This record gives sequence, structure tokens and C-alpha cells, in this order.
Amino acid sequence: MKQIKVWDFATRLFHWLLVTLILAAWYTIENRMIEQHELIGHALLGLIIFRICWGFIGSTTARFTHFLTSPLSALSYLKASLTLNAPHSSGHNPAGGWMVIMMLLIIGFQLLSGMYANDDLGFSGALSDSITKDMSDTFTQLHAINFNILVALIWLHLVAVFFYLLVKNENLVRAMFSGKKPVNQINPQDQLNFKPLLQAMVCLLASVGLGFWLMV
Ligand code: HEM
Ligand code: HEM
Repeated sequence: MKQIKVWDFATRLFHWLLVTLILAAWYTIENRMIEQHELIGHALLGLIIFRICWGFIGSTTARFTHFLTSPLSALSYLKASLTLNAPHSSGHNPAGGWMVIMMLLIIGFQLLSGMYANDDLGFSGALSDSITKDMSDTFTQLHAINFNILVALIWLHLVAVFFYLLVKNENLVRAMFSGKKPVNQINPQDQLNFKPLLQAMVCLLASVGLGFWLMV
């Protein structure tokens, strides 16, 4: 079956860096490595800033306008999915589009609450000097609660990906590595444009710079 490019390199790099850094954030806090935890958090901050920019200026399938639909059409897409009648999407489907927004919001709050948090042992996040210790303690609790919400969302994400693989016979994971989907699994009406890699890398470097600038 002929394969068509749907994901640019920047979006795929973003995804697998995101997975690696979230695992690293979890590992470092489990092992009480708070300085490394903060460094990873600020790298993640840069990555999320990059993804938001890329959602406006990036390749077609990375753009918010390409995958954001009304919540109602996401619901009717979900209903059609259960009866296996949903149409193919070249990039994110309408329900997946909302999953991306939820991920960005929940990870964004994890980063914000981390920057206001403290560990009661002398460490405090980059923004915590601007609030009282009580408020910082509240953010530390919110940071812990929000992490559990993020983990639940990640499980839901994995269930969706494996539903596609096992029930619909669509390997979205391979597409997130190779960037390509079989021609019969895309929307033929889509005109896909891809932005130069250099543009993505300049945007990524600037975003990571901004993420670390907030730390110092
Ligand atoms: C700017 C980035 C971040 C900063 C400054 C930061 C800071 C902190 C601090 C101060 C604590 C409290 C440690 C303690 O109570 O001893 C903490 C805990 C934690 N952080 Fe972060 N964090 C950041 C990002 C993240 C991210 C991105 C994740 C995961 C996606 C994460 C996951 C956790 C977890 C799981 C805990 C333990 C919560 C618990 O007490 O159960 N953090 N972090
Ligand atoms: C820490 C864990 C993970 C997080 C936070 C996460 C987050 C995300 C996000 C934000 C996107 C949207 C990508 C974009 O448009 O920029 C996405 C898409 C995707 N993720 Fe993950 N992911 C995680 C783990 C995984 C794993 C382990 C797999 C594979 C087994 C996976 C497979 C995929 C696939 C296939 C897509 C594209 C879905 C589609 O075609 O619409 N993800 N993920």
C-alpha cells in the first residue's frame, strides 16, 4: 500500500521528546533528584512553548486550525468510532484533537504549579519567590494532584492508540515514528503542506531558551 507523509519531523520529535522528558521528570522526583527535576521541567516548558507556536505556524497536520473542531463534532466522531463508521483523518481526528489540547493544558499546569512549588528542604521553583509560603505549599499539593490527572490522561491516550491498532487495524504508532500513513487511511480531501525543518529548529531553540530563561 502506498504511504503518504502526514507528520513532519518536528511534530514527531516533539512527541518522543515529550514522552522521554515526562518519564525523566517522574524518575527524578521518585529518586529525590530535585535539581535535575527542575532542569527537566524547564526543558519541558520550552518544548510545550514550541508546540504551541508550531500549532500556529507549523505544517498542516500540526496546526490547531487543522484538528480543532467543535466539542459536538468530537462527540459525534466518538459515536461513529464505536460503530467503526468514523471517517479517516490525515492528522489528529476530532476526538484526538481535543486530547492534544487537554494534554497541553494539563502538562502546562504541571509546569506552572512546579514553578510555584517547594520541597520544604530549601528548594523552591523559579516563580515561588513572588508568592507566600502558604500559597507555595498549596501549589505543591496541586502539583501532586495534577500529576495523577496527567497519568490518567496518558492511560486514556494509550487505550485510544491501542483501540486503533487492535480494533480498527490502524497503526498510528508507526505513523508517529515514520511520519507516514497508508493512503487508504488518510482524508483524500486534505492538502498537506510541510514547513522547512530549519524553521522548526529555530522555533524549538528559541522556545527552549525561553523555558530556561524563566529558571534563572
Ligand atoms: C518547572 C518545572 C518543575 C518544578 C520546578 C517542579 C518542582 C517540584 C517540587 C518542588 C516538588 C515537591 C517535592 C517534594 O515535595 O519533596 C515536585 C514534586 C513532584 N513533581 Fe515536579 N516540578 C516541575 C515539573 C514537573 C513535571 C513536568 C512533572 C511530571 C510531568 C512533575 C512531577 C512531579 C511529581 C510526580 C512530584 C511528586 C508529587 C508528590 O508529592 O506526590 N514535576 N516538583
Ligand atoms: C508520557 C506519555 C505520553 C504523552 C504525554 C503523549 C502525548 C501526546 C500528544 C501531546 C500528542 C499530540 C502530538 C502533537 O500533535 O503534537 C500525542 C500523539 C500521539 N501519541 Fe502520544 N503521548 C505519550 C505516550 C505515547 C506512547 C507510549 C505512544 C505509543 C505507544 C504514543 C502514541 C501516540 C500516537 C500514535 C499519537 C498520534 C495520534 C494521532 O494519530 O492522532 N504516545 N501524544
